[in-house]
Amino acid sequence: MAEMTQQVLGVLASGRGTDLQSIIDAVERGEVKAKIGVVLSDKPDAYALERAKKAGIPALCIDRKQYDGRAPFEEALIAALEEKGVTLVVLAGFMRILTPLFVRHYKGRILNIHPALLPSFPGAHAHRDVLAYGVKVSGCTIHFVDEGTDSGPIIAQAAVPVLDDDTEDTLGARVLEQEHKLYPQVIEWYCEGRLHIEGRHVRVDQ
Ligand code: GAR
Repeated sequence: MAEMTQQVLGVLASGRGTDLQSIIDAVERGEVKAKIGVVLSDKPDAYALERAKKAGIPALCIDRKQYDGRAPFEEALIAALEEKGVTLVVLAGFMRILTPLFVRHYKGRILNIHPALLPSFPGAHAHRDVLAYGVKVSGCTIHFVDEGTDSGPIIAQAAVPVLDDDTEDTLGARVLEQEHKLYPQVIEWYCEGRLHIEGRHVRVDQ
């Protein structure tokens, strides 16, 4: 394979950041051969920012509340990512919907992880919706981000059982275990140039 330039990841996270941590750990172990250029959060109290700082990664809050509208907020996100030379945007528990302004800027270069088996149960309350519906299997989905919500071409999925006595927390923990294995793996595939978007399909070179 031809030598590839190193990808610079910009990770966006709104919360505790365990997905981010799995990526930091995989980079440190050399399993993801990329650099994390910056971690951004829309929430000042996101623990993800602490995790980044502990790992020596630039971390910045771009507080949605400080911006008058989505466009200026997203322009600030783009400026911060550009400043660090980010080539791949990784959404890791980022709980805001990105508009076409952002998505077009990074077309084909934004990954998201969703805690359900898309196209079932999109949106911000996947575990709650899964339990309410009564399905027996759930899991996580990693996909390219397009201009819809949780609708972009799917790269990889992992399934877990839903148990009778599950709560959002117990199901969430079971799904997260899979997320922490699958997300670093998919990021490495991207970095190796193995992912090809063909319409709705993503081909992964073996
Ligand atoms: C993860 O389960 C991720 O799939 C989900 O948020 C959680 C973040 O956990 N993302 C979404 O729901 C996106 N709509 P973390 O803060 O511990 O990484």
